[in-house]
Amino acid sequence: MNDLDSLVSQAHTEFAAAADANALDVAKSRYLGKSGAITVQLKSLGQLAPEERKAAGALINAAKSKIEQALEARREAIRDAQLAEQLAAESLDVTLPGRGNGKGGLHPVSRTIERIEALFRSIGFEVADGPEIETDFFNFTALNTPENHPARSMHDTFYLEGDADVLLRTHTSPVQIRTMQAHAARHAGADHMPEIRIIVPGRVFRVDSDATHSPMFHQMEGLWVGEHVSFADLKGVIADFLRKFFETDDLQVRFRPSFFPFTEPSAEIDVGFMHGDMKGHWLEIGGCGMVHPNVLRHGGIDPEKYTGFAFGMGSDRLTMLRYGINDLRLFFENDLRFLSQFR
Ligand code: FA5
Ligand code: MG
Repeated sequence: MNDLDSLVSQAHTEFAAAADANALDVAKSRYLGKSGAITVQLKSLGQLAPEERKAAGALINAAKSKIEQALEARREAIRDAQLAEQLAAESLDVTLPGRGNGKGGLHPVSRTIERIEALFRSIGFEVADGPEIETDFFNFTALNTPENHPARSMHDTFYLEGDADVLLRTHTSPVQIRTMQAHAARHAGADHMPEIRIIVPGRVFRVDSDATHSPMFHQMEGLWVGEHVSFADLKGVIADFLRKFFETDDLQVRFRPSFFPFTEPSAEIDVGFMHGDMKGHWLEIGGCGMVHPNVLRHGGIDPEKYTGFAFGMGSDRLTMLRYGINDLRLFFENDLRFLSQFR
């Protein structure tokens, strides 16, 4: 076997031993690189006599192309092996079920609001609303709470900068006035005005923050105005609502005498916890009372002819009670570990 033949077979062996593309490149340089064996042979052609040069050159070039073919074959084999290995490692089980998209759901407080709306609609109430940015008149004055009235300090109000007359509503009660005024205007001059029966879900704002108070929270206002609406109706409607809302008849509900400038008489509605951490405790869920004659007058309604009751409940508090949640702030932290339990 001459030199060139053994060079070719040596290259075959070395290429076969190269485990990856890098090792193959190193092996290649030993034959075809700048100072590789084949390159050195080609360079040495110049030292031969011209008549020997042609034949020797042809032999070297034949050897070179055999080595190049071997190199290419090995390169391809390495690529194939790598691909096979990768496919095996990243194997994809097409029979697995898809991951799907995460399903969203209603916020627990929104669920409560929808539930309250449905229950009151079933007894003939309509849903009304009003602006969150209110004037001092609708939020206080028209609700029988004139300037300097001590009751104004019961609400820690957010005022809008530069205007003492404009504020974030502290309760949904201003919608009572807006609704009565629109109703009175619509039925001006009529002998018998149809009844007003509304509930008003909405956001309200106070400078207030702890486990049961939030600076933004939700109220559900209720208003029923007619010719013979009494305090007994008020108690009946509220007690009935609460039993349906909590889906139980042995609910503890307490009407605790209280004061609101816009109702007379007035009461707080308290609900007792029957299980969980808060067992035995009462939570105030709302205020209520008979609409004060001055409030009816501000609404354009004759207090000699019509009476009414109103209530304002905390929708967040109702949600806490329904689901046994003891910290209101969980509703507003947007922690999915909490929220996804209500999907
Ligand atoms: C009022 O806001 C009266 N407008 C309610 C009313 C309406 C009385 C109509 C009579 C007639 P009060 O400030 O108590 O009342 O709030 C009503 C309810 O809102 C409370 O019982 C409580 O459930 C809820 N609430 C009050 N402050 C907060 C707060 N910071 N965070 C969460 N809920 C609150
Ligand atoms: Mg109160």
